[in-house]
Amino acid sequence: MALRLNPSVPAETHRHMATGHDKAKFGLELPSALRLARAWDRFPHLRLAGVHVHIGSQLATPEPTAQAVARALEFVDAANNAGHAISTLNVGGGFPIAYDGADAPATVGDFAAALAPLLEGRDLAVFLEPGRRIIADAGALLVEVQYVKENYGARFVITDGGMNDLLRPALYGAEHRVWPVAGAAGPASPAGVAGPICESSDFLARAAPLPPLAPGDLLAVLDAGAYGATMSSTYNARPLAPEVLVEGATFRVVRRRQTWEEMAALE
Ligand SMILES: Cc1ncc(COP(=O)(O)O)c(C=O)c1O
Repeated sequence: MALRLNPSVPAETHRHMATGHDKAKFGLELPSALRLARAWDRFPHLRLAGVHVHIGSQLATPEPTAQAVARALEFVDAANNAGHAISTLNVGGGFPIAYDGADAPATVGDFAAALAPLLEGRDLAVFLEPGRRIIADAGALLVEVQYVKENYGARFVITDGGMNDLLRPALYGAEHRVWPVAGAAGPASPAGVAGPICESSDFLARAAPLPPLAPGDLLAVLDAGAYGATMSSTYNARPLAPEVLVEGATFRVVRRRQTWEEMAALE
């Protein structure tokens, strides 16, 4: 078995996505983990073989991860001195993507460069658990404009997709790029792209630069492949959207649309 450690390092990310600091619920604080490792004869049927540190997601820089790994290695040494033979280190995920399509966040290579010197010469199998970095830019949420309205000079584009389909903007203040599928017809100006749910936080974008839009236009909310469908819900009695896999010029439905009958069956 492995222990998940809380290395007490602040990660440079949204506070809802930091998991390895001293106020986070995740992992074991290092003194407790060490006490546990030193009193292992209570668990004769368990072999302590690994440690795990995942300090958060969408990490802007690799330094906190390197700090976490350094602390995990101190724990490995202390645990080995207490008679264990720790053979694996799991560094978790957190490798970021560029949601704005422009800024290059830290690359996987940057993380490797920060971690390699710490791991060199260590007899440890190193595991990674990347999620977002692999899949986020492979997915887009498609929504249809229902109507457009102006309120006190601000433009609101109301779509049939909302926070139940893509929670990240409401939960994390995430800023996904939004663009018309058919391309731009006219100059872009800021618009709030809002869903149809009775929540003030029900936005897909707060101020997306968008051309003039009309009911029926399709919008693509980009980089929705991670923490998109997996965090979706049926809130406000809204069936789960289908998922469509595109391969070259063909596509197929890989998760069909939820039906009203299926929703009602649980009521
Ligand atoms: C333990 C653990 N590992 C890996 C990940 C993946 O993180 P990311 O998608 O940022 O790479 C998560 C995400 O919550 C996690 O909790």
